[in-house]
Amino acid sequence: MSTLETGRNFLKAVLWQEGGRETSDQQRGVPHPPLALPAPEGSQTVELIPPERFTVGDIPLRQAIEQRRSRRRFAEGALSLEELSFLLWATQGVQRVVRDGLATLRTVPSAGARHPFETYLLVQRVQGLDAGLYRYIPLEHKLCFLAEIPHLAEKVTEACLGQEFVGQAPVVFAWAVVPYRTEWRYASRSHKVIAIDVGHVCQNLYLACEGIHAGTCAIGAYHQEKADALLQLDGDEEFAVYLAPVGKLHPADR
Ligand SMILES: Cc1cc2nc3c(=O)[nH]c(=O)nc-3n(C[C@H](O)[C@H](O)[C@H](O)COP(=O)(O)O)c2cc1C
Repeated sequence: MSTLETGRNFLKAVLWQEGGRETSDQQRGVPHPPLALPAPEGSQTVELIPPERFTVGDIPLRQAIEQRRSRRRFAEGALSLEELSFLLWATQGVQRVVRDGLATLRTVPSAGARHPFETYLLVQRVQGLDAGLYRYIPLEHKLCFLAEIPHLAEKVTEACLGQEFVGQAPVVFAWAVVPYRTEWRYASRSHKVIAIDVGHVCQNLYLACEGIHAGTCAIGAYHQEKADALLQLDGDEEFAVYLAPVGKLHPADR
């Protein structure tokens, strides 16, 4: 099979059809994997502003949809912790744990409510946060600090194949997938729906950015191994799938 055929077949739903459904670990009775990764033991955590206290982001939906654009330049300034809290909630915020602790309902949809993503942040300019690598803890709406990253801007640019505007952003969202979270339920039917799922996450980021006079740009062109190394991922059970730099709107885009 050519690589084009392999790619096209990945987009088809044939694996869902009668006869093509292999047994999943869920059907075999294997216990479900954690809903999200916990903060590493002993790591420093940062409380975020809870959604009921948000004072930002309240613009009409139609305006957000009309104004949304991919932004490749940003203002010099920092994001506030409340703005960052709003963006994290809008993209992966947990609203409810359901099915006896087996699934979460969040601000974005996900096939089978599996929510297989982890959100990493490469922070350079967010008020109240030291620069470095963080991970969102969605069940607690907190951040955990993972590491200082020397030469962060250069490394982000390099991981994004020389796209300098990514390295210049105050914060870069980087979504990693833990594929087993979806595979547990859907086996090899998982990968198409995982790719669809992550699009919803990034679209909410685009719309939420409009609500805080910020901008983002989806990044699908990146170097897999370099991005995984930067995010300190094993590249197998967890690996990068999508990135998005965020910053306040450049004066010329306001
Ligand atoms: C899956 C995906 C991957 C993308 N990857 C990149 C990228 O690596 N670099 C970039 O500058 N823009 C990237 N974009 C942004 C598109 O170029 C942009 O959406 C398109 O030009 C239309 O512009 P608009 O978003 O302002 O409507 C990506 C968009 C999507 C949806």
